[in-house]
Amino acid sequence: MTMTSSSNSSAALAALSPSQLSWIKNLPKAELHAHLNGCVPISVLREFAQSYQPHPSTSLNSKPPLSHQDIAAGLYTLENFDKSQDIHSFFSAFETVYTLISTREALATATRAVLAQFLESNTADPPECTYLELRTTPRPTSTLSAMEYIHTVLSEVEKYPPNRAALILSLDRRMSVDSDQTAVTVEETIDAAVQLKKQGRRIVGVDLCGDPLAGDMSLLEPYIAKAKAAGLGITLHVAETPKNPPEETLQLLSYGPHRLGHATFLDEEAKEKVVKERIAVELCLSSNLLCKTVPTLSAHHIAFYLERNHSVAVCTDDTLPFRTSLTAEYALLLASPPLGLGLSEAQVAKIAKGSMDAAFTVLN
Ligand code: IMP
Ligand code: ZN
Repeated sequence: MTMTSSSNSSAALAALSPSQLSWIKNLPKAELHAHLNGCVPISVLREFAQSYQPHPSTSLNSKPPLSHQDIAAGLYTLENFDKSQDIHSFFSAFETVYTLISTREALATATRAVLAQFLESNTADPPECTYLELRTTPRPTSTLSAMEYIHTVLSEVEKYPPNRAALILSLDRRMSVDSDQTAVTVEETIDAAVQLKKQGRRIVGVDLCGDPLAGDMSLLEPYIAKAKAAGLGITLHVAETPKNPPEETLQLLSYGPHRLGHATFLDEEAKEKVVKERIAVELCLSSNLLCKTVPTLSAHHIAFYLERNHSVAVCTDDTLPFRTSLTAEYALLLASPPLGLGLSEAQVAKIAKGSMDAAFTVLN
């Protein structure tokens, strides 16, 4: 039977008994790898789309503004991201989200919706997670500077207590290091994270994300070092595709990250380093299956880490295109094969505890 991962995660959910499902929902767990703009509920984007008017001020990267048809097509792609696409086409799908979320009001509304999705109880159910470390890439828009973007998101995050929500600032691999007239730089992002942390604001870490083959990762060392010295946690998307050179992965590992995202194509040397240095790995099962970087659930590299008793945090990545939830990702762990990995409750509870222990708030 061929299945998409989204039907796989919903099929895994459906395969659980009511008591298994309740057990998963009540398990204390942390969502440590969720990208803000990849987790905006489609209902919120549809509402923004209704009042969207193409205007030069809504254009991105000096391209013409997206038309109504472009927006409709973009929303369709996000909702139906699947077989015909791969990890590289995935990144352009964000243009629709970025076009629709360009004002302070829209950003605050979208952030509130994402926080509620993870942190608020839904009818009789407990919240999706106990603690959320949300991440986002600072992004100047036609009406917001990058700093205003950060403040808008941070203010929403800080409406929750510190043991429920915190923010990670993402560096995009496409960012220039220290000079760009039109976009935020690596230097500005790190400086903002360091300053806000010093002021006691709820920024707990720095992430590296974006198109896995873009950018020159050898330029990042002093910036990552500065963030670490300020007590910020470091998480890096590494080895997401087979084309990521092993030298790049080793270089990123040499920066001493506290956690890694995906780490799908590590060679033996890198794997040994990750295990020896006990670097927790954020694993996103549906994301990897839909982006086709992992062929089947049973081939997923989670098995490697579980065999070695290594700390992993199972996360959603982008709930919108991957049509998943944290509960559904945990269902993939617990459901019997072929719908899930068939792990025992003890193994799943250990993964959940590992996610709580890998939170950056635990660093300080
Ligand atoms: P944002 O940082 O809140 O704007 O969230 C969306 C951004 O996260 C995308 O434009 C990508 O740069 C990044 N992103 C989302 N998912 C992935 C992934 O699986 N790998 C690498 N980057 C990602
Ligand atoms: Zn990610």
